Amino acid sequence: MIAELTTQNELQKMDPVFGQLSFDDHEQIVFCNDKDTGLKAIIGIHNTVLGPALGGTRMWNYTNEWEALNDVLRLSRGMTYKSAITGLNLGGGKAVIIGDAKTQKTPELMRKFGEFVHSLSGKYITAEDVGMQTEDMDTVRDVTPYVTGISESRGGSGNPSAVTAYGVYMGMKAAAKYKFGSESLAGKKVLVQGIGNVGVALVGYLTKEGAIVIITDINEARLQEVSAQYGAEIYTGIDLYLADVDVYAPCALGATINDQTVFKIKASIVAGGANNQLANEAIHGKILRERGILYAPDFLINAGGLINVYGEIEHYDKAEAMRRTENIYNTTLEIFDYAVKNNIGTHQAAFIIAQNRIDQRKKESGK
Ligand SMILES: NC(=O)c1ccc[n+]([C@@H]2O[C@H](COP(=O)([O-])OP(=O)(O)OC[C@H]3O[C@@H](n4cnc5c(N)ncnc54)[C@H](O)[C@@H]3O)[C@@H](O)[C@H]2O)c1
Repeated sequence: MIAELTTQNELQKMDPVFGQLSFDDHEQIVFCNDKDTGLKAIIGIHNTVLGPALGGTRMWNYTNEWEALNDVLRLSRGMTYKSAITGLNLGGGKAVIIGDAKTQKTPELMRKFGEFVHSLSGKYITAEDVGMQTEDMDTVRDVTPYVTGISESRGGSGNPSAVTAYGVYMGMKAAAKYKFGSESLAGKKVLVQGIGNVGVALVGYLTKEGAIVIITDINEARLQEVSAQYGAEIYTGIDLYLADVDVYAPCALGATINDQTVFKIKASIVAGGANNQLANEAIHGKILRERGILYAPDFLINAGGLINVYGEIEHYDKAEAMRRTENIYNTTLEIFDYAVKNNIGTHQAAFIIAQNRIDQRKKESGK
């Protein structure tokens, strides 16, 4: 019996889900296991006050299950605030599949994952994230309608990454306007960390405008390819956080602004596509502010992809998705103003405005 094996104190230390630091009153957490396909996934549903919880699926070779759970808790919470701040009628959810997307992802595994998504009857709607491709969403679509980001040939909106990048570009321009007095990024040095789907599209927008783009990635072949295509410089220094740039654009994984990096950053602006860039929102957001570094909140400026896939539910077209994404420029400026007026950080400002919208809806609906 477990009570004999474990003291109360030890049990408390182990609170495996609701006791996690990243647990934030999530509504539902679903653990999915299938022996035949090797699927091990966690679906996190943070909040559904504004609508169904929509958020991508990430496949990643997590070191352990704690890391996967922590990721899905953080990511799903981020989606709640992303939808709320963007004015979409969606809640926040996300899924992670534990495993190497290059070697362990099979159509059978994706279909099985789709069946788990289907079992939630639309409370969670999935989409792409790191380690996923449009064809994976098509496979999921074979077993459930609760998926977005499927191929255009199947009536979907395709890969949302370019629209995400456009929103990041808009947010970066708003930050430049606030910090430098002009929205133009021509001649500005921008370090793009991670040149995957989002990063490369951002590089495209930036080089077109005449920014000096410096790129970094763990994938050497990709660096060479993107550098050749866009004329971007490959970062060769020892520590990219010390790079002498105007803008640091995190476009790889989250938590790159942490205890080890936050005091090093030389850029005047942080604006990128990665989710959950601040390892600790309160602490690292505050330090950036104190250091005079303008932070464009990640969940606001990377919402373009969400806006794009939302079109599949609301039946609007690409032009409308781009128009709504372009509006990230205005919303970002409003957030900066709100932060200054209230003497708070920009991340906190965006969070408060998003939370107000959720609270208001909750009050109206009497839920
Ligand atoms: N795809 C979207 O529409 C979308 C929308 C919102 C947010 N995001 C977020 O943006 C980020 C990137 O998404 P993506 O779709 O481009 O993913 P991706 O998998 O296509 O690209 C990620 C890139 O980052 C690189 N990378 C990984 N670790 C790195 C490290 N330590 N240093 C430098 N590079 C590293 C990878 O090699 C890869 O090239 C993720 O945090 C994702 O959650 C994506």
